[in-house]
Amino acid sequence: MNNLNETAKALVAPGKGLLAADESLHTADKRLTEYGIEAGPEMRRQYRNLFLAASGAEQHLSGVILFEETLGQTADDGTAFPALLKAHGIVPGIKVDKGTEAMAESQDELITNGLIGLAERLVSYRAQGARFTKWRAVIRIDGDRLPTNHALLENAKRLASYAHIAQEAGLVPILEPEVLLGGNHSRLRAKEVITETLKAVFAAVEDQAVDRTAVLVKTAMALSGSESGKKDTPEEVAESTLEALIAAVPKEVPGIVFLSGGQSADQATDNLRAIALRAKEMDAPWPLTFSYARALQGEALALWQGKSEHIAAAQEAFISRLAKVAAASEGR
Ligand code: 13P
Repeated sequence: MNNLNETAKALVAPGKGLLAADESLHTADKRLTEYGIEAGPEMRRQYRNLFLAASGAEQHLSGVILFEETLGQTADDGTAFPALLKAHGIVPGIKVDKGTEAMAESQDELITNGLIGLAERLVSYRAQGARFTKWRAVIRIDGDRLPTNHALLENAKRLASYAHIAQEAGLVPILEPEVLLGGNHSRLRAKEVITETLKAVFAAVEDQAVDRTAVLVKTAMALSGSESGKKDTPEEVAESTLEALIAAVPKEVPGIVFLSGGQSADQATDNLRAIALRAKEMDAPWPLTFSYARALQGEALALWQGKSEHIAAAQEAFISRLAKVAAASEGR
């Protein structure tokens, strides 16, 4: 178990964070199409290569979360992606949930699947080089109506079951109950829901004898809903986010990482910087850093357009954003 604690700590090493490159096949194709790029396995491989083979990324990345397909694909130079990351001192991870479906009892809410056969899948992911894992639950806010307690509890139970299985398999689990930005709720409502969600997760973690010194938490920041018309200042986001985390996350947890959740790249950078500064002032008990997908990749994808002659410019944009986000994670 000690090894898992060390891996978890390495993933939140100062000045470093994670790239979430684990979009499902459907989401990856959607992302490519949005930027006018052809979908399909080969373009998805080229898309992964753009980010994973970008030279200099290792200065700012401790780990990358991959999707199953990428774990078995090779970079342009023929190296398997997990081996390429490892050669650069970046820890390969894998998203292991199987996506969401509507809950039978609450049709506007989602439950995450993937526990069946998980232990067997983890054995092969580990053999392919993965050292940590992620499971994403999705929590929707709709005024005071959603989330229901039922959705919080069921998702929390599955997160804890997953974490137990991952630790048994020798892989660090990232617990990601993503509270969605969509909606017209206030930032304070987001804070309250993030708090309740994480409390439910840690109650389940306790129930299922998960080692909390060998997990990471991945969370949204506390932000006003995207349809609320309100734009929070970074200081407001930092205050509310840290209040939620302090109320709900045990101090033994080795680290907390943030998703970007649909914020612009600049917002995700500025809010992270404010959180890092406030965390230092408050002497928060855990390292805090990024685990972004869209905020790290969007600018590069827009430049790349699927064309080889644009790779260099796209990689430069990626490294430039990554350096800014990594600096922000240290309050700079
Ligand atoms: P975003 O940073 O695009 O929100 O993605 C992070 C992630 O892993 C969501 O599950």
